[in-house]
Parts: sequence; structure tokens; C-alpha cells
Amino acid sequence: MSVPRDDGFVYLADYTAPAWRIPQVELQFELAAEATEVVSRLQLVPDPAQGGEALVLDGVDLELLAIAVDGVALAADRYRYDGRQLQVPGLDRACVLETRVRIRPAANTRLEGLYRSGRLLLTQCEAEGFRRISFMADRPDVMPRWRIVLRAARTDYPVLLANGNPLGTADLGGGQHEATWENPHPTPAYLFAIAAGPLERVTQTLDTAEGRRVELNIWAEAADVARCAYALGAVERALRWDERRFGRGYDLDVFNVVAAQDFTMGAMENKGLNIFNARYILADEATATDADFLAIESVVAHEYLHNWSGNRVTLRDWFQLSLKEGLTVFRDTEFSSDLHSRALKRIEVVRLLRGRQFAEDAGALAHAVRPDRYREISNFYTLTIYEKGAEIVRVLHTLVGDTAFRAGMDRYFADNDGRAATLEEFLAAHQAASGRDLSQFARWYSQAGTPELRIREHYDAASGDYTLTVDQHTPPTPGQAQKQPLLIPLRFALYGADGAPVTTPPDTGAAQAPGLVELTRARHVLRWTGLTDRPLPAFNQAFAAPVKLDLDYAADDLARLARLERDPFNRWDLLQRLATGALLGTLDAESATSALSDALADLLDDDAADPAFVAECLALPDFDTLAEAVDVVEVESLVARRESLVERLAEDHVERLERRYHALAATARQGLSGAAMSARALRNACLAWLTRLDPQAALAQAQFAAGGMMTERLAALRCLLHFDAPDAAAALQSFRDAFAHDPLVTDKWIGLVATRPHPDSRDAVLALLASPWWKATNPNRVRALLGSFARGNALGFHRRDGGGYRLLAEQILGLDALNPQVAARLLGSFESWRRLAQPQRGAARAALESLQGGLVSPDSRDLLQRLLED
Ligand code: PHE
Ligand code: ZN
Repeated sequence: MSVPRDDGFVYLADYTAPAWRIPQVELQFELAAEATEVVSRLQLVPDPAQGGEALVLDGVDLELLAIAVDGVALAADRYRYDGRQLQVPGLDRACVLETRVRIRPAANTRLEGLYRSGRLLLTQCEAEGFRRISFMADRPDVMPRWRIVLRAARTDYPVLLANGNPLGTADLGGGQHEATWENPHPTPAYLFAIAAGPLERVTQTLDTAEGRRVELNIWAEAADVARCAYALGAVERALRWDERRFGRGYDLDVFNVVAAQDFTMGAMENKGLNIFNARYILADEATATDADFLAIESVVAHEYLHNWSGNRVTLRDWFQLSLKEGLTVFRDTEFSSDLHSRALKRIEVVRLLRGRQFAEDAGALAHAVRPDRYREISNFYTLTIYEKGAEIVRVLHTLVGDTAFRAGMDRYFADNDGRAATLEEFLAAHQAASGRDLSQFARWYSQAGTPELRIREHYDAASGDYTLTVDQHTPPTPGQAQKQPLLIPLRFALYGADGAPVTTPPDTGAAQAPGLVELTRARHVLRWTGLTDRPLPAFNQAFAAPVKLDLDYAADDLARLARLERDPFNRWDLLQRLATGALLGTLDAESATSALSDALADLLDDDAADPAFVAECLALPDFDTLAEAVDVVEVESLVARRESLVERLAEDHVERLERRYHALAATARQGLSGAAMSARALRNACLAWLTRLDPQAALAQAQFAAGGMMTERLAALRCLLHFDAPDAAAALQSFRDAFAHDPLVTDKWIGLVATRPHPDSRDAVLALLASPWWKATNPNRVRALLGSFARGNALGFHRRDGGGYRLLAEQILGLDALNPQVAARLLGSFESWRRLAQPQRGAARAALESLQGGLVSPDSRDLLQRLLED
């Protein structure tokens, strides 16, 4: 790909094609936890176009035992290995390089390369983990075909899985056995995977639309296999959906998925052998919440859908990461929207964007969806690459329409199948299929920061002239002071005095389609003439553009619009806007609060509305979203204002909340049906509001005691713990004991303890860190305790005395030596520190500065440097 320059950065501009092609790889593993030996045979072919460069392969911390070219051992002076790279000068023709190396899975706490998790041996190779297994041109544009032989002791490792199709197994005598796998599709090393151990499975066979018989398997350790059935169903749904919606079939005889308790990220799309964080596989009603079920379905779909957007068409280099991730998030989001409620999915995504991605785009770590340089690629698996990347694909979909979008995707897959592609090639396919010039659109990929649209209206009652003036502006981000106008599709609707939509298009300002204008310049003016009343405008229906809107509505207008607006997402959003205006003082607080309260009354009285939608309307903007909307974050006062608004609204509606809570009880018992999930969502929202008014927390206590599904138990426990109910300690104890054997449920109560909204919660976190519950090598546990504390506990993390920051910084220091990616992610929770008011800002800076000189990993050092850079 390209080597770092002297400044330590790898640059997109430095890309060069591989000097050597590797059409075929054969690997042979002798697997054991303490020491594994890997024999590799690489077919190497020099690319004459690259001018006969010396062979350089990646290989990190490998113990090199033997090396030969075309069967002849290399003398020590014929190669150089410095622990990072292997150089073999003097090769100038096609040959086979054979190496034998030793690696140490049991000592691997990075969970990158080959590692041990419980009784399993697993790999994780994206982005640059393969080089910790064997020598390779570890770059995504080198795409061999693979043959993989696994050998191990049968009692310890009865199941041996690798990419592709199984070719056969053999008994080797002496308690050893082997399995051979073949992956016939050109596949980069980052998609390599193996898994070995005492795995059991749930399985299903199906015939694809193209007539291929495929075996779907989900593998887990024996104790967990009973909780894999839901995930298996999700694989089938994803496969069928990709056939229907994108015409994409599956291309191997087996699709294997393995659940791992120790996994740094969510899951990994390795060719034919996905490896998952167990939390995105294991589920039953007693241990997983409704949100867990939906997340499992969507992550399973995400990884499955990568088989085309990522694997069949892969990446030329890591700068193109969003080409697979943004596109695949777009695809999994469409999958969930098609299967469930599109409006609710949109609300979920927008909460994540506003609370987290917008903050990233406005903070010290802001970067473009296609960055032009990086020091450590692991630090770019971000909400910007994933979620904003998906939003950009959605913008494209809006601009060209569904039919042309599908044609563009067909063309992209056809033109790039088996290739390592770039974002330019993605855009070229869509440009060819839609006939549209996408050059301005492409700026979305290179320009960081969230665009803001300021919209001002003017109505002249005498002439009936009505204008909307739309100004776009993107604030500066690190390294990008100046921004250019983006191509933004802005949806809009006008509602007349009678409440009906105004269907006349604007006379000037070129609306491209009814209710849609494409903004290309810094300013656009839409003008209507002859309107007999001043209309009410609504914008950005379904959040079609990932932008911030600056509007100057009065509270009453917002409330009225929330009733008139046809778009369900916007009805929710207008209420969020009312709440935000009341909380941040941008609206008259009393009129906004009472307008919001009236709207919620109507929603709670409306038994025909989807209860889950009502629950979303009750959930006010969270702390992160509010913090992102202000220039200077006064933590305590922001939290306090939010709490008192919720309390006021709860008081307004006690009877309504009680009525809905009880009326929905029967529906809530109907298992995993959509109606039951919806009912539980609203009941739990009502429960939280009612509990804050009741010092005895009687309802929460009763719901907790009733047992039942995890969704209900956990919501009740949260209420008891977070509102300091009299029974909280006893409830926690009984919950803890009931699930002590289950790490995923243990993570849930730990998360509740870590997010108790009180500065003292820091002490509970410290106590857990000193307890047997703490497992620094398990990423899920680290996230449950420290991730939730830093990201989900404003009062604890942002303590005025800096104690929350110091706690986190100290833990990061220790974790950095164990698992750099986990440490770096935690460090990211300081991304908005510069916008904090004093004393927090100074305390956060001090905590960050205390890490200087102490961090060892390139991951954490890169982030720390960016966090402290002026
Ligand atoms: N590629 C994975 C996904 O998004 C995420 C991942 C990245 C997993 C890096 C592990 C390591 O589907
Ligand atoms: Zn992905």
C-alpha cells in the first residue's frame, strides 16, 4: 500500500499498487494454545509494471523457524526480518516462498491475530491482524485464493473451522486430527479466519434463489448453543432479503458463524466464517432484552451483507473503509426498516447520529468519511466512517431515486466483483447508471464536520409572497478550516392555515421533485407567490439529509406542526425540538413545556398510535445530544434542567402513564411479537417516569419481583438502582446471583451500576474494579463498566473534582498494554473535552496530560496526540 512518511502518517496520495501478486496461499496450522506453528506457502508473482521491487512482506512478532524459496532453504544473509517486516532481496521471478513460524495464542491479550477465548482458539485479522499469524502482503488489494489445513488434538479442539468450503477431515493418529478448507474466492488477508475448539451448533439447510444448497451454522460452546436459534433465523432473513432487494446470492456451500466471549468489536465478516462477539448472537427471552434481539438481527445482517459489500467487492486500501462500512450499514438499516418499523429505525439511527456522530464531527477527533491520512487505521472504525458513511449513501439514494440506485448498485457489483475498489469506482457506477454528475456530491466524502442549514422565512401578507432563505455552512474541523458547499437534498412541506399541505411548488428556487430541493450553493431562496395565509414549513422529512437545522419557530408553531406533519419521523423530531428549546432556552421555556406536555397527553391518550413510537416521544433528547447542541457544556445544570423537565412532564401525566402501563400488560406478555415489544417499550417508559415520582418505587419493585422477560426485569432494576429505591440493593443482589454464571447478563447489571446518575457512582465503579467481577482482558466487561461510565454517566464521569476523568485515565494506562484498541476507544470518550465549562475542562486536560509518556500503543498515542493538539 504505502509506507508512513517521516511524520508518521500514511497518506492516501502515496498509494501504489502491489509490486508482487499472490494468486494462491496454502497454510497449515498445528494448533495449541501455548504455541501454534504455522507453515505458509505463498505463490509470488512479480508485477512487471511495478518495476521489479524487492519482496517485502508484513509479519509482526513472529518467531521465524524456517524459510525457503522454491523448496531451497534461504541462508541467513539472503533475507532480513526485523520483527515487523520480512525482506527478501534478489527475487525477480515467480516463486513459492515457504515459511514456518511460531506464535503464542494464550499470551495474546490484544485479541488480534490468533488468540484464545475460553476453550476456543480464534482469529481476528481486520485491519492488520494477519501479519501476527504469518508473513503476508497484509493489504486489502492483495487477494489470493486460500487452502487452509488445521491440525490439533481432537479432545481439546474437536471442531476445526476456516474460510470457505470444507474439503475433508482426517485422523492423524496419536489423538491428532486435521481438517482442510478451501476458499475459492479471491480474498484479502483481513478476511482470513479460523476457529477451533469444543463448539456445538444449530444448523439449517436452504436453497438459494440461484439454486445453491447452503448449510447455515451458528457455533458456540455447549452451554450457549441453546441461545443461537434466533441468530440463525436472522441469517436466513438477511440472505433472503439480499436476494430480493439487491439481487445478491450467497456463494459458498456453508456459512459459518462463531460466537466468542472475548472479542474487541461487534463482529467480523470473514469470508464464510463470521466471528461474532457473543453479545450479538446469544439470546433468549430470559437473558436478552428486546433491544438485544433487534441489535442481534441487525449485526447478523450487517456481517452477512458484507459478503457482497466488502468481500466480493473489497477495498483497494484502508482509506476506502467507508466503501464497505458505510454501504453495509446503509444496507443493514434498510433490512431492518423493511422488516420492522421504518420510522422507529430512523429515530434510532438519528439518536445515534446526533448524540455521538455529530459530537465526533465537532470534536478533536473529527475526520472525513474518507480521511486523507492516518497514523493508526484501527482508530478509524468510527461513527463517522460507519454512520455518516451510511447517511451519505442514503443521500445518494434520495438524489437518484430507488430505481436508479438499484441499477447503480448492480453496476457497481458487476464492474468490481473480485476486485479491490475505491469510492471513485462506487460513484462512477452510480453516475453511469443514473446519468447524474456526482462530482459535487463526492465532497461529502472528503469534507469533515456536520453541515448546518439556517432557514429563515418571510411572508408578505399584502402580496401573498412567501420566501424561505436557506443558507448552508459547515464549521471548520481539525486540518480543514475552509469548507465548500455540499449537494444536500432538502425535503420540505408547507402546511396551510387549514392544516392541509400546500401542493404548489415554489415559483423560483427550483424544487427538483415535489417537496425536494437540491441545495448546491451557500444560499438558496425558495419563493411562492399568491399564498393567502402564512404557511407553516416543515423540513428534512425522514432526516433525508444528515444536517443540523437552525429554524426560528415559536413553540406554538412547533406544537401545531407536530400535529400536522405527515412524516412520522418528523412528528417525533418536532417534539424533540420542543424539548430541546425548552431545555436550552432557545424557546420560551414555559410555552414550550406546556406545548410539549399537551402533545404528550394526546399521544398517551391515543391507543391507536404505535406504543413504541409513543415511548420514543417520551424519551427526551439525551445528555450527549443536548451537550452537542451548546457551545459550552455546563454538565450539572444541563442534567438538572433535563431532570426537572422530565419530572414536570411525569407529574402532568401520572394517570395517563398508569393507565397505559396497566392496559398494555396483556399485550406485553406476548413474547417476541412486534406488538409485544412495542407494548413493553411504552410500559418501561411509563415505569421510569412513574418511579421517579414514587420514593417507594412500588411499581418497579413489583415488575422486578414478577420476573419474566429480561426486558422487563432489567428495566425494573434500572429504575430501582437509578432512583435509589429502598429495595435497590436487595434487587441487585438477587439479580447478580441469578445470573452470576452468565457474563453477558453480568455485563448488564454492571452497566446499570456504572450509569447510576450521581457523582458518587464513581465509588461503585472503583469497588467493581477491585472485585472479582473485573476482567480487564474481556472487552465486553471493560465496556460494561468503564465504557458505560464514561459515555453514559454524565454526573459520574464529569465530576467537578476530576475524579471521574482520573479514574478513566488510570484504567486506560493499564488497558493500553493489554488491548490497545479497547484502550483507544475509551480514550475517545474525551473527544469533546474542549467544550466543557470549568472546572471540568481543566480537570479533563490534566487527566489527558497525565497520560503523556505513559501510553505504549500507537493506537492510544495517536488519539492522545489528536486530543491535545491545538
Ligand atoms: N468489519 C467489522 C464490521 O463492521 C468490524 C470490525 C473491524 C471487527 C475491525 C473487527 C476488527 O462488520
Ligand atoms: Zn461492517
